[in-house]
Amino acid sequence: MDPKVIEAARAAFGAAGARVQLGAVVHDGACLPEPIVGLPLAMLNRHGLVAGATGTGKTKTVQVLAEGLAAAGVPVFVADVKGDLSGIACPGEPDARVVERARQVGVSWRPGGSEVELLSLSGARGAQVRATVSSFGPLALGKVLGLNETQTSVLALVFKYCDDRGLPLLDLPDLRAVLQHLTGAGAAELAAYGGVSKASAGVLLREMTELEQQGGARLFGEPELALGDLIRVEPDGRGLVSVLSLADVPDKPALWSTFMMWMLARLYYDLPEVGDADKPRLVFFFDEAHLLFRGATRAFLSEIEQVVRLIRSKGVGIFFVTQSPKDVPPEILGQLGCRVQHALRAFTADDEKALRAAARTFPRTPFYDISSTLTTLGTGEALVTVLTPSGAPTPPFATRVVPPASRMGPLTDAELARLSATEQARRYAVAIDRDSAREMLARRLEPEPEPEPEREPERERRPPPRPARAAPDPLERVLRSPVARTVTREVTRGLMGALFGPPRRRRSAR
Ligand SMILES: Nc1ncnc2c1ncn2[C@@H]1O[C@H](COP(=O)(O)OP(=O)(O)OP(=O)(O)O)[C@@H](O)[C@H]1O
Ligand SMILES: [Mg+2]
Repeated sequence: MDPKVIEAARAAFGAAGARVQLGAVVHDGACLPEPIVGLPLAMLNRHGLVAGATGTGKTKTVQVLAEGLAAAGVPVFVADVKGDLSGIACPGEPDARVVERARQVGVSWRPGGSEVELLSLSGARGAQVRATVSSFGPLALGKVLGLNETQTSVLALVFKYCDDRGLPLLDLPDLRAVLQHLTGAGAAELAAYGGVSKASAGVLLREMTELEQQGGARLFGEPELALGDLIRVEPDGRGLVSVLSLADVPDKPALWSTFMMWMLARLYYDLPEVGDADKPRLVFFFDEAHLLFRGATRAFLSEIEQVVRLIRSKGVGIFFVTQSPKDVPPEILGQLGCRVQHALRAFTADDEKALRAAARTFPRTPFYDISSTLTTLGTGEALVTVLTPSGAPTPPFATRVVPPASRMGPLTDAELARLSATEQARRYAVAIDRDSAREMLARRLEPEPEPEPEREPERERRPPPRPARAAPDPLERVLRSPVARTVTREVTRGLMGALFGPPRRRRSAR
């Protein structure tokens, strides 16, 4: 291999500081048997992209990166869309191709699995992912329900109404009760909010029913997934790999991609700022990222853009994984400091155009013709550019990715079942139905409960008085309780969409 290429690659990737190893430089058909290409840990909160046509090695690259990060003590979250990432929990098999690839890239391959917790939307594998409706927010919920912008703004009004009235929106029955109230007995109350027509409430109710029929009800309520569970470092110093298993809900991309976005927004809101850290707190791999952007409203897109921009200072790195860079809106693509671009195909005129556009986003290099390299990379090879610790992008180098130490195929059902029986999974197994909007609205139509019975125990046996119209609103009392105050804050936060900043900051921005 041309010594100039080797020298340039060493200069590009040899900067001081810890890194996660990715692979060896390939040039003119030769592979340098030394895994000098890596991603500096300190720069991973500047985000990244793993792209490439189908079957080019994206998932294995994610597996290699996740393994490397976990080994370096960085917790990782990955979405396992096809079920082929669960193998990261088990040591791999030393088959001939793995051994040969390891030899080519100059690593001594040893099998090894990572510490894994499974999560799922169906609750079938590991911990049940769950969010309260209020923390999810109207924008994300609108995305999940497939609402357009007008319908989403109606939903936002409903959230605002609940916020003002101290009605906690925890699960879908709460939201349904509120919508029914607002189109029935409570219609007059809505005048101040511009009104919600029966027709638009009807649309919301219909979409909610559909979501419930698809099993969406179990996703909303309590206990809500504590995002701190994702940021776990094992006693031996290894980072936890949380695998969100999505293979059982492959046909609901809007649902799970929005849930992942909620997780990020929530992380952003909950985590304190960190300065320049030597490694990220968490790296989040957002697989099939095009599904997140497809059909998204402008408001939702701008939220994503904000989360991506701001979460950096919280020490969280996000990697989008998708087939083509053009799947990612330019404002977001521009924020992804690290690129691992696997082969792109150029079969059609559209492909050609996308290829040229992708090529233009790479820094210049005298060593590669970017477009032709992108179409001729082999499986498990990628054109890689990363940010150096000074913040400048390295020139791109074609890289043969090391083989994962863990299993490249999925876990067996028995292995998955074993991995699903953890303390964390048990904690989220059963939903709690706390007093919230549905119960509170129902009580409005019911008699006032008895006053404190302590002094006169015999009163307990008396029948309750008849409903008194003028009785003080039970809402009032609940509103003053500490629980309601917490929930109300949550509602406010959700109202603004994906939890941007503490209420104080939002108010000043209005
Ligand atoms: N780093 C690697 N080490 C060893 N084998 C690899 C590596 N990368 C890719 N391969 C081989 O290529 C195959 C396809 O890779 P992978 O599943 O990662 O592709 P993909 O881009 O995720 O495909 P899809 O778009 O269909 O999800 C793997 O099953 C494996 O045999
Ligand atoms: Mg894949």
